[in-house]
Amino acid sequence: MPDLDTIRARYLAEIAEAADEAALEAVRVRALGRKGEVSLMMRELGRMSPEARREAGPRLNALRDEITAAIAARRAALADAALEARLRTEWLDVTLPARPMARGTIHPVSQVTEEVVAIWADLGFSVAEGPQIETDWYNFDALNIPPEHPARQEMDTFYLRRAAGDDRPPHVLRTHTSPVQIRYMEAHGVPCRIIAPGRVYRCDYDQTHTPMFHQYEGLAIDRDISMAHLKWVLEEFCRAFFEVEEVELRFRASHFPFTEPSAEVDIRCSWKDGQLRIGEGEDWMEILGSGMVHPKVLAAAGVDAEIYQGFAFGMGIDRLAMLKYGIPDLRAFFDSDLRWLRHYGFGPLDVPTLHAGLSA
Ligand code: DAH
Repeated sequence: MPDLDTIRARYLAEIAEAADEAALEAVRVRALGRKGEVSLMMRELGRMSPEARREAGPRLNALRDEITAAIAARRAALADAALEARLRTEWLDVTLPARPMARGTIHPVSQVTEEVVAIWADLGFSVAEGPQIETDWYNFDALNIPPEHPARQEMDTFYLRRAAGDDRPPHVLRTHTSPVQIRYMEAHGVPCRIIAPGRVYRCDYDQTHTPMFHQYEGLAIDRDISMAHLKWVLEEFCRAFFEVEEVELRFRASHFPFTEPSAEVDIRCSWKDGQLRIGEGEDWMEILGSGMVHPKVLAAAGVDAEIYQGFAFGMGIDRLAMLKYGIPDLRAFFDSDLRWLRHYGFGPLDVPTLHAGLSA
């Protein structure tokens, strides 16, 4: 048998000199690999006489263990050295100011308002606005809402107090966006194609009603506008807004003082596993009120109803937001704590949104 002390000294020297993990592994293979020098010697043991084996066996085992331990120690030393080197070259400046964290989100009502405006802009409608504090003339009379109409009751309408001794009719917080129809036609005449989004107010509070909510009004007046146009633009709107290929709308005869004929419009939908799907299924959901603008309303706005006609409609923006984003309780929109918005996918303000696109 070769001189084990020489072999031992050689391997320990090679291990000590191994400059990296690869060199170390090469030494290990040469000594202890399947065809390694020490391994081959250990295989020889089987062919030895029992006396020779008793003498050589423990010495070979000890050699193998010593080389194994030396390799492990060297490997740990190399790792330490590598870490030392990294620590010397890599460093963080912990005194740098932190990047600001975006916490704000676009409110769903704002986002949906902008989605709505963008869609109607494509259909050729511009945006009009009116005051939230209205006269009862614009909010009721001009819209052919008679003095005894239930909507005028104090239960439904917020009235503003007049000064003592002033007996003009009180102002109201507008109960709908319909007065913008009158104001717009008065100021700009016809033909016209507008939508009028904004806040409206009613004395109401439950899961689907809040005292302040959002509507938008649509109005298209020209010489030859019919309900067929109304139906087409509403279908176009619903397809774009709900992002579905096909929608089916159902026009139900109804009554509004400011339209004749009047229709409430339902959209085909389904509820599956608590999920609303628009455009399919067996259910119908009411999404708006509409009709052909009443001649008295045109007259109140100074428009010749013998020449001009057109349609109007009113839609709840909060309701659209609830439907599109699956938000069950309207009151959540106007709580002070809006962290729940993240749950419905409304990301921080630095995430590109339609809002960012429009303001850019
Ligand atoms: N103003 C109605 C409301 O607030 C909605 C509405 C219905 C508006 C029919 C319209 C219309 O323009 O034609 O409930």
